[in-house]
This record gives sequence, C-alpha cells and structure tokens, in this order.
Amino acid sequence: MNNDIIIKCRNLTKSYQKGDNMVTPLQELSLDLDKGKFLALMGPSGSGKTTLLNLLAGIDSPTQGSLEIQGNDIAHLKRRELTKWRAQNVGYIFQLYHLIPVLTAYENIELPLLTSKMSKKERHVRVSAALNLVHLHDRYDHYPRQLSGGQEQRVAIARALVVDPPLLVADEPTGDLDAESAKNILNLLKELSHVHGKTIVMVTHDPKAANYADQVLHLEKGKLVESLSEIHGG
Ligand SMILES: Nc1ncnc2c1ncn2[C@@H]1O[C@H](COP(=O)(O)OP(=O)(O)OP(=O)(O)O)[C@@H](O)[C@H]1O
Ligand SMILES: [Mg+2]
Repeated sequence: MNNDIIIKCRNLTKSYQKGDNMVTPLQELSLDLDKGKFLALMGPSGSGKTTLLNLLAGIDSPTQGSLEIQGNDIAHLKRRELTKWRAQNVGYIFQLYHLIPVLTAYENIELPLLTSKMSKKERHVRVSAALNLVHLHDRYDHYPRQLSGGQEQRVAIARALVVDPPLLVADEPTGDLDAESAKNILNLLKELSHVHGKTIVMVTHDPKAANYADQVLHLEKGKLVESLSEIHGG
C-alpha cells in the first residue's frame, strides 16, 4: 500500500430501493486521494456529492465496491464498528453549523470528547488547542447567537477538529456565508490541510470556493467526469 494515499475507493456504488424503483446515486466510482490534500467536489444538485461524502465519512456504507481509508476497509464494517471508527477518524462540517444553541462555543467544541474517558483537564487542553486552530480563543464563552455566521462555522470546524481526526469532510461549508466570511473559512480550511496536514474533502457549488482546493473533481449522475467541458459537451 502507498502510505501517502489516505482514501482509496474502487467501483463504489450506492443504491436505494424506493418502492419498485432502484435509485443509484453513486455508480462504480473510483478515486484515490493523497494524505494532506484539499479536494473540492462539484456537480449539479442530485449528482451524488453528499452521498459520496457520507460514505467517505462512514455515515453510510456502500452497496458495492471497496473503500479504504488509511488502509482500513470501512466498506465492510458493522454499524457499531463504523460509528467507533468515525468518531476517531472523521470531522464533519455542515452548511448550517449545527451548533447546540444552549451551549457556549467551548461546550460545543467539547461535546465529541465527552464520550471518551478523557479527564476534564485533558479536555481543556484539546478544546483550547482547537479554538486556537480556528483563531477564536477570545470567543470561548459566547453562545452561538452571540457569534457571526463565520464565527459559528469556525466553532463547528473546531468541534470537527477536537479529536484530531486525519480526515475532514465539509458539505457546502460556505453556502450560508457572505463573501468575506466565506473567504476566511476557505483560507482556514486551506491552512488546516497545508499547515496541519489534514485531508479535506469539501462539497461546493461555488467555483470560487473550489479554487482554494488543490484538486477539483466533478460529479455527474453519480460518476466522476474529467472536466467541465466534458459535462457540457454531453
Ligand atoms: N436515503 C436515500 N434514499 C433514497 N434516495 C436517496 C437517499 N439519499 C440520496 N438519495 C438520492 O440520491 C441522489 C443524490 O443525492 P445527493 O444528496 O448525494 O445529491 P447532491 O449531489 O448532494 O445534491 P445537492 O447539491 O442538492 O445537495 C438524489 O437523487 C437523491 O434523491
Ligand atoms: Mg448535497
């Protein structure tokens, strides 16, 4: 195995039974991604972007094909094992942040650590480090309603980072932000991959956002296409 490859999928297929019909949002998709890379996934609505992200994040399992992350075959893990794997290896960042409104920034970031046996002191070290990584140490005691959208997203990124996972996945992380805040978030993601070695897979509809990534892939009807011209060329 090449140690530099973190994600290796082969012929990944995901199907759902809908009444009498079979829906197949992902069709025999193969992909390699090097460790520490920042990848942007683009494609029209319904092309399978979130479906792929959820497979890479271990939220869902493929119907067929193989999926190795850091040499672990996660396609065939049982649900409980997959949940355990995900908690240690993947940080998920959502478009609408999904912060808990009655918890402070600090408490939101601390949440993923509460299921482990970590001491309060160790948790403090981790949460403080995550707050520093997103440049938000001075806002630790603010509630989500006391933060701007961009700051809320930075708290959500810190929460995704706090267990120090090698892989971050983000589904339209700047979709709800103004241009300036979006730029800040994209620069932060770039910094997390280039300076801190995180591998990032980001779904976006915005070509400007995709420009921040090292590599851009396009999905069309559940398959990867080589370039935009190929999409438009039929
Ligand atoms: N749990 C499910 N059951 C049945 N069909 C599903 C399920 N999840 C996704 N699909 C279908 O798979 C297709 C791809 O969905 P997906 O959410 O991956 O698209 P997307 O590229 O993320 O779109 P968008 O840009 O709108 O978020 C859609 O046609 C969707 O209806
Ligand atoms: Mg989606």
